[in-house]
Amino acid sequence: MKASAPGKIILFGEHAVVYNRPALAVPVNQVHVDVAVSESDQPGIWIHAPNIDLLSDLAALPPDHPIGSVILKTVQHCGVSPLPTLSLTIESSIPVAAGLGSGAAVSVAIIRALSTFFSHPLIDDQINKLAFETEKLHHGAPSGIDNTVITYNMPVYYIKGQPIETFKPGQPFTIVIGDTGVPAPTKDSVADVRRLWLRDSNRFDSIFNEVAQISTMARHFIESGRPQLLGELMDHNHELLRQMTVSSPELDTLVYAARKAGAPGAKLSGGGRGGNMIALVNADSAKTVAKALITAGAIRTIVTEVK
Ligand code: MEV
Repeated sequence: MKASAPGKIILFGEHAVVYNRPALAVPVNQVHVDVAVSESDQPGIWIHAPNIDLLSDLAALPPDHPIGSVILKTVQHCGVSPLPTLSLTIESSIPVAAGLGSGAAVSVAIIRALSTFFSHPLIDDQINKLAFETEKLHHGAPSGIDNTVITYNMPVYYIKGQPIETFKPGQPFTIVIGDTGVPAPTKDSVADVRRLWLRDSNRFDSIFNEVAQISTMARHFIESGRPQLLGELMDHNHELLRQMTVSSPELDTLVYAARKAGAPGAKLSGGGRGGNMIALVNADSAKTVAKALITAGAIRTIVTEVK
């Protein structure tokens, strides 16, 4: 039994989304997690995840290990008892701690593969709920946007705790994703922003309100087929993320390089401090901007169409 889940990228609204402001995110199908489940003659549940050097029996993992925990939750949810003997292989092309949702994608692919293997396939709502439980282990106080966009594999306009809204671009547009190569766990930047917000909530709430306006306008421009207007909003959102202290010299360098190479706008994406940034491009400038990002130090670029 096999299942996959895509990566994701946040277009607007990261961090503010943890504080109930809207954010926009889209799946990135160029990278994915693939999980294969098969029966095994060795006792226990064997997990092999070569990308993170993990080869272990489930029983040997600490109780809060995200992979172990999502497997146990799925087994319980499907009412399988006693624990079956099986082997699970997880392969991923999504870089870890890079803002592309690797943790959520691993959870979603595991839940999908295991529940189907147990002949108890789950609907997306159930998969999303189970994946969110595991996200809490990855990064403490997640908004739930990562597991949502990855489970439904559709662009989402997300407000924490509210019914999921998807959106459809009136006209497709292209973004280039540039990876700083600096791993930065989202858990840390989310915790730092919380500390700063607790210290000066008036200032941070007004930054989050500005981000909320940006996300709302961005959705409007995207749906009404005017993606060329997103550039300015990206630049403004990046500035607000800098004020939240979640940018980094490497991210700023890539953002400025993209703008200099002709991108109408660019910003960091995800938790920040490292990981990825995005730049709006048109079909002609995609290659030039991607090249400029590599020259400025990006270790990888992905060109993706939002449609
Ligand atoms: C991480 O992809 C996005 C953050 O807003 C955290 C979250 O929403 O849980 C930084």
